[in-house]
Amino acid sequence: MTIYKMMVILFLDFQADEFMEAVARPSFEGCASAFHQLIDEETSPHAGEREDDLRIGTTTNSRLIHGRTLLLGLLALPLYLGYRAILPKPLAGIPYNRDAAGKLFGDVPEMMGYVMGTKRIFCWLTSLTSRHNSAIIQAFIKPGSLPWVVVTDPFEAQDILLRRKEFDRSGFFGELIGGILPEQHIQFLSSDSRFKNNRNLINHLMAPTFIRTVSAPEVYKSISTLIKVWQVKADMAKGRPFSTHHDITYAALDGIFASSFGLPEEESITKKRLEAISEWKGALPSNADEPVSFPDAEVPQPFASVLILSNSVTDTQLSPAPVLTSWVLRKFPYMKKAIAIKDDYIRNKVEESMALINKGDTEPRNALHSVCLREKEVAEKEGRQPDYQKRGIADEFFGFMMAGHDTSATAVAWGVKMLTDKPSAQDELRATLHAEFPQALSEKRAPTYEELSKAHIPYLDAVVEEVLRHANTIAFVVRQALQDTVVLGCHIPKGTDVFLMANGAGYLEPNMTVSDDVRSPGARRGTGKALSGTWDDGNIGKFRPERWLTAEDKTFNSMAGPQLAFGLGTRGCFGKRLAIQTLKMQFALIVWYFKLLPTPAELSGYDAVQKFAREPTQCYVRLEKALNESTGEGQSGDEGKDVRVDLKWDSADLAGS
Ligand code: HEM
Repeated sequence: MTIYKMMVILFLDFQADEFMEAVARPSFEGCASAFHQLIDEETSPHAGEREDDLRIGTTTNSRLIHGRTLLLGLLALPLYLGYRAILPKPLAGIPYNRDAAGKLFGDVPEMMGYVMGTKRIFCWLTSLTSRHNSAIIQAFIKPGSLPWVVVTDPFEAQDILLRRKEFDRSGFFGELIGGILPEQHIQFLSSDSRFKNNRNLINHLMAPTFIRTVSAPEVYKSISTLIKVWQVKADMAKGRPFSTHHDITYAALDGIFASSFGLPEEESITKKRLEAISEWKGALPSNADEPVSFPDAEVPQPFASVLILSNSVTDTQLSPAPVLTSWVLRKFPYMKKAIAIKDDYIRNKVEESMALINKGDTEPRNALHSVCLREKEVAEKEGRQPDYQKRGIADEFFGFMMAGHDTSATAVAWGVKMLTDKPSAQDELRATLHAEFPQALSEKRAPTYEELSKAHIPYLDAVVEEVLRHANTIAFVVRQALQDTVVLGCHIPKGTDVFLMANGAGYLEPNMTVSDDVRSPGARRGTGKALSGTWDDGNIGKFRPERWLTAEDKTFNSMAGPQLAFGLGTRGCFGKRLAIQTLKMQFALIVWYFKLLPTPAELSGYDAVQKFAREPTQCYVRLEKALNESTGEGQSGDEGKDVRVDLKWDSADLAGS
């Protein structure tokens, strides 16, 4: 059998039987018969003497042929043994697809079929828990490796993430992003010096004061520009729907660039989009339900590069061989160009920070400047020269650009859809904001950054959490077992990747029955060890922000029920505080300014596609200005009269916060 034939069999179906047939027939059977013939000849020493000279040549040929067959057989033996060694090895007591266990590539063919059909992957993993009706299952994804273990019990998940030292960062993320972000800390074990060194430089960026005074004001400015874009579009669309996904994505990119490096107004993509639509003279569709196609502005190269590189993670994420996929992608000229532009951009920004430091400017202007100041401090302590241009710093910031913009933008896009489809929640949020900021309302302006950042608005917190619960931006968290251990009563060998899913039972679908006894001691609800409450199976799939508020006094309870949007514990999302602050400002300002009216059914689907995050395929809005109406102007024939929009880029409010 040729190598080619073996490869085709390997890559087409991977049925164990077919493979064995292919290997065994020509080789083992041929080998056995060759053995027999050789043995016959050896045991009949006179056989050759009975042949004449002409026959001697034939015997030699036949021996040669038999010798080759034997050689092939001997080659096939290690192949066969190798094949046996890399067949899936199910872990005892954990349900799995029986059919997959007999195949070299296990569940990969089924998984890839699902990925090709849906462009999603993680809901397939969760669907296995429903198929086997078990809160723990295993799937065979990597030939020769341990199975992936998938868990949907929220309480066992919380214990693993928060308390169990035998679990740490899995190599999963590293395989996805290691090719383009080799020194970003997400991929390292917590004990790795690269994790500790990088975190030592960036930890302070998520301190509440830093966010409040440096990062969040920049994000507020970006959101304000997005609002301005929507105001212009709403005026132009005259009640027609339009897609907002790009607007949201670019505003999130602006926000993360601005908080990381500082972003002059002329470099903002959203500002360019505003200019592009302001000059637009296109025709509106005659049908009021047809979406208006507003023009896109040109995307400056550094932003476009980040988008290209983020998109490459889509391919690695959906591939069964992510490291190889990433390697191949990086050979393409467009990827090389994107990497070069991104590297240049960060290098220049570091130089700007170095210039500030050399001038003696020690008041952090932005996150990068602050990290460079920290590098100087650490270097002094360690008695070395600061290395501002080191790869670790550049990768951390590129990591923020990628992890920070896509996740936040995706959550906003889902939230806009959810609030559109739940007008009562939208109205309640708007009423709550009006009650919280009466002065802003009477002055017909938005709450300033200063006002918003100081306020405690439980219903806004609840909306953000509920959007995140449903959005499933990142639908799972994965940890690696550092030693042999036990999960839900099942033995888990060292090195196993355990996927804790947030898109199924216990989070968005009715809880599965799990006996408290099989949970690890720290996860037992009966002994009061569970971190959070549990969601009511009767309404677990519904969008109900009030589930996050206490029945007694309507205060926000972040532990009301399970939530894994940011993971948990020491390796939970580094950017969680900034992300929450961003989402609060975003939903507050959107709902303050606009009523999200229902969009036509054909534009309102909930299909998702797995990119870096899990994105909605449709995100349309039909906007009506809410500020006019709430002040009564809209009712009294003042339609069309614009309200004052407080979009100052250098407002004293921002600086003074
Ligand atoms: C809605 C927005 C966001 C969501 C839903 C989100 C979600 C997540 C999740 C699920 C993880 C894995 C956590 C775990 O394994 O336990 C994670 C990790 C991480 N996120 Fe986020 N994220 C968001 C925004 C951000 C932002 C704005 C930044 C940076 C500015 C950021 C930076 C990171 C980093 C650096 C890690 C790795 C942490 C570590 O390995 O210790 N994320 N994020």
